[in-house]
Amino acid sequence: MKPIFSVLSPNVEEDDIRLARHLISHRFDYQQSNDAQKLAEVIGHYVSVDYAIPFQNGRSALWAIIQSYQWPAGSQIIVPGFTCAAAVNPIIWSNLKPVFIDIDQNLNLDLKQAESKISNRAKAILIQHTFGLPVNMTKVRELADRHNLVVIEDCAHSLGAFFDNQAVGSMGEAAFFSFGRDKILSAVFGGIAVTNNQDLALKIKHQEKAGFQPRWRWVKQQLRHPLLVSRWVQPGYVRVEIGRWILLFFQKTKILSKAMTRSEKKGQPITKGPGRMPNELAVLALNQFLKLERYNHHRQKIADLYRQGLMGLNLKMTDDQPGRIYLKFPIILNNKKAADDLLKYLRTQKIYLYDGWKDSPVVPADVELNALGYLKGSCPRAEELSERIVNLPTHINVSEKDAQRIIRQVRKFLDSL
Ligand SMILES: Cc1ncc(COP(=O)(O)O)c(C=O)c1O
Repeated sequence: MKPIFSVLSPNVEEDDIRLARHLISHRFDYQQSNDAQKLAEVIGHYVSVDYAIPFQNGRSALWAIIQSYQWPAGSQIIVPGFTCAAAVNPIIWSNLKPVFIDIDQNLNLDLKQAESKISNRAKAILIQHTFGLPVNMTKVRELADRHNLVVIEDCAHSLGAFFDNQAVGSMGEAAFFSFGRDKILSAVFGGIAVTNNQDLALKIKHQEKAGFQPRWRWVKQQLRHPLLVSRWVQPGYVRVEIGRWILLFFQKTKILSKAMTRSEKKGQPITKGPGRMPNELAVLALNQFLKLERYNHHRQKIADLYRQGLMGLNLKMTDDQPGRIYLKFPIILNNKKAADDLLKYLRTQKIYLYDGWKDSPVVPADVELNALGYLKGSCPRAEELSERIVNLPTHINVSEKDAQRIIRQVRKFLDSL
């Protein structure tokens, strides 16, 4: 039985592996190249914005955006209650305060509740197009205008999604994208900040120029990721299940990196300021960009299959709307036990769907919520959702046949309850 994965280099194909190998052995060809800049230009052009600046990751891009505004310490930024620590940390690292707002049925921030929690210390609202489901930006604009808030779009999950025929990332004052290992396009690490505001762009650019330049050792660690995960970790799930241990070994010995460090999970920065994007990782991202339309078309097709195949079962799905791209296809079970048991059952069928977006409103589940400014109980809908959600994979390495296998097994499990 072929194992199916939700994470573990989901976008990687043979050409990415060959390219990573080439980049490792041609280190000196890229040191002075302008590929990071080229990547930023390509993405800026794709989302139709005037300025795009590359960074080491999405969190660095957001950090640079926030710091450019120089808001007084203690100012507030409105954020969704269901989010990733990597999106909250830059707020804390800038001595500002995240104000968590509970989510609506689209897993995005509930604008009505946001309105009631805006104080005169609030400076900005961070709009996260969760899993590629765009937020209604007309309503966001109205709210932001009423309260004089800066709109920052978190497009970590949503490159290629549209709202009202406008690309996400082009509708706020600023936005950022991520090229993390399980995002729409992956370069293991990488990010871009975008804006149409020239003054803001100059300030962001200034921070990028002064930013921390990752060393070759770190870059090589990332370049190994597509290679080792495809050649060693994934095959470790085929017969005896040792893939997880192989990955742990690679991470413990620092042969491979983790997506987030232990310090970051406690709200602590690991560098003094935003990091720069290495050219080698930009080359990986540029190669992935050539496949963006194919990837996102595939995601929509697989999402359609899930939607049809799971209809009539005792679970909830989000509705379909134009412009959505489905980084993942979330299904919401009746309770935590059903979701946990489903994940467990699927594992016995070699379908590995745990993706970290579970059991905590701010993920990953082992973050220190207090350190991130999240008060337990403050977003009950997000907390409940995080217990009941199971994300089905839509990436290019999940074929239609794989999706049908997932549907059959989810049906079988739910019918047996
Ligand atoms: C919603 C969201 N925002 C922001 C980020 C930050 O992206 P990065 O990992 O590139 O820093 C992530 C991913 O980690 C994310 O899931």
